[in-house]
Amino acid sequence: MEIQLWKEILDPFELAVKELTVKFNHLIYEHRARGLYSPIEQVHGRVKAISSILDKAQKKKIRLEDIEEKLDDIAGIRIICQFVEDIERVVEIIRKRSDMIIKKEKDYISNSKESGYRSYHVIVYYTVQTINGPKNLEVEIQIRTLAMNFWAIIEHSLQYKYKENMPD
Ligand code: GTP
Ligand code: MG
Repeated sequence: MEIQLWKEILDPFELAVKELTVKFNHLIYEHRARGLYSPIEQVHGRVKAISSILDKAQKKKIRLEDIEEKLDDIAGIRIICQFVEDIERVVEIIRKRSDMIIKKEKDYISNSKESGYRSYHVIVYYTVQTINGPKNLEVEIQIRTLAMNFWAIIEHSLQYKYKENMPD
């Protein structure tokens, strides 16, 4: 696919990540400005790299024309909390918002993955305004504690390092 076409596909996701990062950071600000404890400690966002999109599309046998519809993590937001209890509070905040509509929730906090991975995943529908009008996108929000995040990042690096031969 031509670079210009990739840009046209990914630009709305870029906007979604920027907007959501601002909105979640503003929640931290609002709590702290009122002297309240913020259940959100940090917010990170990224648009999936083209190379990763291609890898995943190939693995899942998704045609390139269908990636916008079939990949739900082109836009990703990661919300980092201090305490496990904060995660449910953040999910509640998301449930109550009118600008994000929950499509799917996955609770890897109560049911950690075989790898030991823990995190709460919420896929939301989020609308951005583009020069071609509104565009409704799917965004993956991962919510986890600082400790779970530390663990997930190291485990991810180890997967690369050892491929299928991860030592016990
Ligand atoms: P994919 O989207 O194809 O990965 O599978 P899925 O739709 O079942 O998604 P799932 O909710 O299981 O995982 C989505 C994302 O969570 C991944 O892209 C990773 O960022 C993260 N993740 C899931 N499992 C693991 C794991 O075992 N280790 C680490 N480090 N991250 C994981
Ligand atoms: Mg997924």
